[in-house]
Amino acid sequence: MSSMAKTADDAERERPGPPGQHSFVVVASRLPVDRIENPEGEPEWRPSPGGLVTALEPVMREAEGVWIGWSGDAGPAAGPFRANGLDLVGMGLSADLVRDYYEGFCNATLWPLYHDVIAPPQFHRRWWDAYVAVNWYFAQAAMAQAAPGATVWVHDYQLQLVPRMVRSQRSDVRIGFFNHIPFPAYEIFAQLPWRRQVVEGLLGADLLGFQRRADAGNFLRACRRATGRRTRGPAVRVTDPAGTREVRAAAFPISIDSAALEEIARREDVRKRAAEIRLALDQPATLLLGIDRLDYTKGILHRLKAYGELLNEGRLGPRVVLVQVASPSRERVEAYQALRDDVELTVSRINGDHAEVGSPPVHYLHQSYPREEMAALYLSADVMLVTPLRDGMNLVAKEYVACRYHEDGALVLSEFTGAADELAGAFLVNPHDIEGLKDAIVRAATISPGEARRRMRAMRRRVREHDVAHWAATFLDALGRTPR
Ligand code: G6P
Repeated sequence: MSSMAKTADDAERERPGPPGQHSFVVVASRLPVDRIENPEGEPEWRPSPGGLVTALEPVMREAEGVWIGWSGDAGPAAGPFRANGLDLVGMGLSADLVRDYYEGFCNATLWPLYHDVIAPPQFHRRWWDAYVAVNWYFAQAAMAQAAPGATVWVHDYQLQLVPRMVRSQRSDVRIGFFNHIPFPAYEIFAQLPWRRQVVEGLLGADLLGFQRRADAGNFLRACRRATGRRTRGPAVRVTDPAGTREVRAAAFPISIDSAALEEIARREDVRKRAAEIRLALDQPATLLLGIDRLDYTKGILHRLKAYGELLNEGRLGPRVVLVQVASPSRERVEAYQALRDDVELTVSRINGDHAEVGSPPVHYLHQSYPREEMAALYLSADVMLVTPLRDGMNLVAKEYVACRYHEDGALVLSEFTGAADELAGAFLVNPHDIEGLKDAIVRAATISPGEARRRMRAMRRRVREHDVAHWAATFLDALGRTPR
């Protein structure tokens, strides 16, 4: 990995290697598989759950593409190899790069900055250097896999410099970029010491996709303010050594494979498991559910506060239970450690105040589950609580809707998610407004079957028609129509 010390400008002076074999190349932070050890102690790859993976897997299989990504652990590169029916290239990151690039620049600089500085972003030049180096390393891998004229689809905030790096050496390929998280207002983005480089990095693409129109608008404004470029509608004019191009920035709201998830929810074993969950909880009158990565953007503490107050006030009636799944995430990043402490303290307080022997009001699960168990949880819940302070899309909201084939249940959904633009049948809330959040939870918990059906039916139609295949097809179609 001698290329790790290179800067973005060095990258552009390098000569490209021979072109690769794949006409479709996905470049993402994560591989769609996890490395595990089998009982014999040998490494094996198992499909990993997660939004991006769920979103792209069907498209990859259809297009016979290659997926370039990282396993999530420090260690050597792996591949190219085949696993779970996909061609994969595993990128290797040293422990120092995991610290400076992944935990540092990605998750302690960009993540909080792009989520409206809910936690204070940290700016360190050493982290930026690691970000440039890792982006260059991914760009090289993409170029090594891409056949002449290939389509390269780069994903998310971890790889914003890759489009320009690839374009600087491979003007033959079409480059798409999709940002899975919000793109912040310029007044916030402007804090980034490397804002111009990031905008230039993204402008290497032919098409830039964002979750919401507001995100695309924020990006276009960043182009004007950080680089002085003129924009016309969704288009930015860019002049580089290969000539003048127009880069488009537009909204392509991501979704889920709703039919596949519904099929899981309809399985007999999954329905049985849902009934078991309710039984294990002593058949609650109302089961509230939260499922999130344990992340400060998800509004878990606001949700717990509202729930605790509702219990104090006795407004939810007897035998109400909250199941909160908080899957472990980014556990070496300080803000995540502090959040875990706060969540666990709050859960303990609520349980301490309200539990009876054998029946705590909060069931807190700091674990990750396979899709079947998630589907059973969605099926078992009367009310789904999705209360992020900021979220690019939030696929959990869509997953809940996809599983509710009986057209019952209710969704409490934060206005500050991309999903709120689409799921008009939800009870929309501002999670900072605790009184408003409490009222919405009570309304959702006491909804009439008729109103629940009307709301759920509308949301299900949306999620069925605008599924992940629709998202990918719309993006790739728009990318294919960008001028050459
Ligand atoms: C979000 C991001 C993804 C990221 C995922 C899990 O959904 O948009 O790019 O992969 O979180 O985070 P992690 O840090 O574990 O990759």
